[in-house]
Amino acid sequence: MEADEETPPPGREPDGHGSGDYGRTFGEVYDDWYPPGFADGDAAVAALADLGGDGEALELGVGTGRIAIPLARRGLRVHGVDSSPEMLRRLRGKPGGDLVRAVLADMADCDLGHRFTLVYSVFNSLFCLPDQARQAACLAVAARHLAPGGRLVVEHQMPAGVSPGVSVRHFHTGADRFRFSVVDCDPVTQVMERRTVAVTDGDAVSYRSVIRYVWPGELDLMAAAAGLVPLARTADWKGSPMSPDSPCCVSVYGHRAPGARAGAR
Ligand SMILES: C[S@@+](CC[C@H](N)C(=O)[O-])C[C@H]1O[C@@H](n2cnc3c(N)ncnc32)[C@H](O)[C@@H]1O
Repeated sequence: MEADEETPPPGREPDGHGSGDYGRTFGEVYDDWYPPGFADGDAAVAALADLGGDGEALELGVGTGRIAIPLARRGLRVHGVDSSPEMLRRLRGKPGGDLVRAVLADMADCDLGHRFTLVYSVFNSLFCLPDQARQAACLAVAARHLAPGGRLVVEHQMPAGVSPGVSVRHFHTGADRFRFSVVDCDPVTQVMERRTVAVTDGDAVSYRSVIRYVWPGELDLMAAAAGLVPLARTADWKGSPMSPDSPCCVSVYGHRAPGARAGAR
C-alpha cells in the first residue's frame, strides 16, 4: 500500500519500533554519519548506473537519497520508496532531491503500478524489516516491480562474526567525537538490537535500532520464492569475488525463465 505524507505505513515491530520511525531516530544524524561516499557509495552508484542503463530504477528504502540522488544525476529516472516521512522530507530538501520520485510506502507491501529495469536495496535496508516473512514479502514486491529482463540488486553486510549475546563494536572516531555500538544478537531469530552511543564534545546521545540480518543463502531462497534466480554475487561494487571474510555482499537477481523450475536459471 501507499500512504500519504502524514501517515506512516503500518507494520510496527514487536518492540514498538514502527517501520516509519527510522527517520525520527536517525534522520537528524543520518547524512552526517553516512555521507554520499560512505561504504563505497560512489562505486555503488557507478555499478547501479551500469545495470540500470537508460531505463528506470526503483530503490526500496531510499532514505535521504544518498544513492538515489547521484544515480538520478547520471540520467536514470529514479523512484524511491521509504516508510519514513522524515527521511523523505530530508531527501526532498536536498539539492537534486527533486530528481527522485519519492513515495511514502512500505517496501514489503506496495504497488507503484509500474515496472523498472532496475530495482535495488542497499546498505542493509532489507534488514530493517523485522522478520523473514516481511523480508520475503519485500523480495516479492521487488520481483513484481521488475520489468522483463530487469535486475534486482541487494547489498547487505555479511553477518560474519555475529556472536550470541552482547558485544561492543562499530567504532567511528573523529576529531572531537566518536561513536560505538552495543549489539545484542539472537542467532535463532537473527535479530540484532543495537544501541549506538554517539559522543560529541563530551555529550553522549544513545540511538536504538533493531535489524534482522540474513545470510546470502537465505536471501537466495527468498528470491527463489519470489520467482527470481541469482545471476551474480560479489563482495563489493567493484566485482571482487566473495571470500569467507568478505564484509559485504552484493547479489544480482533476474526473473526465472517462464516454465523453469525453482532453482533453475
Ligand atoms: C539503512 S537506511 C538506508 C537508506 C539508503 N538506502 C542509503 O543507502 O543511505 C534504511 C532505510 O530503509 C527505510 N525503511 C525501513 N523500513 C522500511 C519499510 N518497511 N518500507 C520502506 N522503507 C523502510 C528507513 O526509513 C531508511 O530510510
